[in-house]
Amino acid sequence: MSRKKTMAVLLTAGIVLGVNGVYAQGPPAAPNAQSATAFDNKIIKKISADNMYDTIALLSAQPREAGTEGELIGVQYIKSQFEKYGYETELQPFKIYNTVKGPRVGSLVINGESLNPYVFSGSYSAEVTAEVMNVGLALTGTVPDTVKGKIALIERGTNPFVEKVKNVLEKGAVGVILYNNTGTANNVGVADPGQNIPAVTITRAQGLALVEQLKNGPVTAHVKVTGSGYIEKTSYNVIAKMKPHKNKDTGQVVMVGAHHDSVPGGPGANDDASGVSTVLELARVMANMPIDTELRFVTFGSEEKGLLGSYHYASTLSKEEADRIVAHFQMDMVGSKDAGGNNPAGGLIMYTIDGQKNLVTDLGAAAGARTAASVAIPYGKLGRSDHQPFHELGIPAALFIHSPLEPWYHTPADTIDKIDKNKLQETAEIVGASVYQIARPDTPALKNARVAPVLIDYDFENRPPGA
Ligand code: BES
Ligand code: ZN
Repeated sequence: MSRKKTMAVLLTAGIVLGVNGVYAQGPPAAPNAQSATAFDNKIIKKISADNMYDTIALLSAQPREAGTEGELIGVQYIKSQFEKYGYETELQPFKIYNTVKGPRVGSLVINGESLNPYVFSGSYSAEVTAEVMNVGLALTGTVPDTVKGKIALIERGTNPFVEKVKNVLEKGAVGVILYNNTGTANNVGVADPGQNIPAVTITRAQGLALVEQLKNGPVTAHVKVTGSGYIEKTSYNVIAKMKPHKNKDTGQVVMVGAHHDSVPGGPGANDDASGVSTVLELARVMANMPIDTELRFVTFGSEEKGLLGSYHYASTLSKEEADRIVAHFQMDMVGSKDAGGNNPAGGLIMYTIDGQKNLVTDLGAAAGARTAASVAIPYGKLGRSDHQPFHELGIPAALFIHSPLEPWYHTPADTIDKIDKNKLQETAEIVGASVYQIARPDTPALKNARVAPVLIDYDFENRPPGA
């Protein structure tokens, strides 16, 4: 394990954390227990590990794979809790695509003659019988409205396959026959998820023959594709906002997130019902606190399918809104009794995408020393969770997780009996105290040294999670 001593930085994202005098006696060396401030206590005294445990038990009663009924049940529960606590709550739906398992098979019949077409990689599975219409290269802006309800005959070349498909789909075509622009092969063609149209490819000779035939009158074709494409499902993010009073609004936003989806068939008690339980508990305890910064709690869907929910959420933020977000705290796998090895604070670590400290890690490290863990939390470098899209928007973000991982990671044994209330409590205290340090009304500029918790030294750890 390599350790590199670094100093806490004072300025990040426009929030002044340090003030003259904070380092008057020099920063204490980590780890070093500090005491909780009166502000910390307003949050941490209200946190209930029993509440979090009960939430995990409820959520892990069934798998929550994105796009399934299990996700929806979880999402509705999460939404109802946020609403109960008084938050402005929104379900944000987005489409996800699961690949259809093959074999990918296609047929094309014209005038009783069976051609042996290639099926586009990713072609939608469907069967249509319709008139064929030659639309040339299907360049953008050239496809006529009259292709509606017809099968578009398209020549390969000049523009990408997916653009050709897009252009005819937009005009209401119901099938695609592509013909090659060269040679004797037919094995080309790619469609994107969401391009819900069967698409097959024939050779150049077959294509030119069809072009000629069409000059003599209408031609009807039958196109059929099976075992291919994507099944469209809906996944959700759950977003809860609490805005400060207008007179007291800094215009800034602090975010706390977790992902509610699990791997297929996994109860996902630790991954990541634990993070969701912490998000909900912090939302509960902060609901009636005085704030000058918007609190935004989000649980993401489809993290396990490639951070799809957090990327979708990030894509909906305008530049102005992204610039108002000063910090994103992501909690993923924060309650396993079998994670963390012999590391201090149960192995809690804050991973950033670039391995650099930021506002989130500065606050988290210091809050660790002031709260139940009584130790500065180290930081490290890792992606693999929903802090990634926020980092890419330039928002200070970190993943709170216990490392090394437990052996139950992504298995059906990731169940409630492996959850440790103490780990939940410590994580919630650290993130809660950190978030409240940003959101409480006296800290936008933290000019007042009397209320500023001491920033501390904390270490980089090269600690691989081990799975
Ligand atoms: N909770 C994990 C993230 C994780 C796993 C962090 C191991 C640190 C160590 C997350 O749910 C997950 O499994 N992520 C995927 C990546 C994602 C992009 C599909 C992973 O790590 O394989
Ligand atoms: Zn996870």
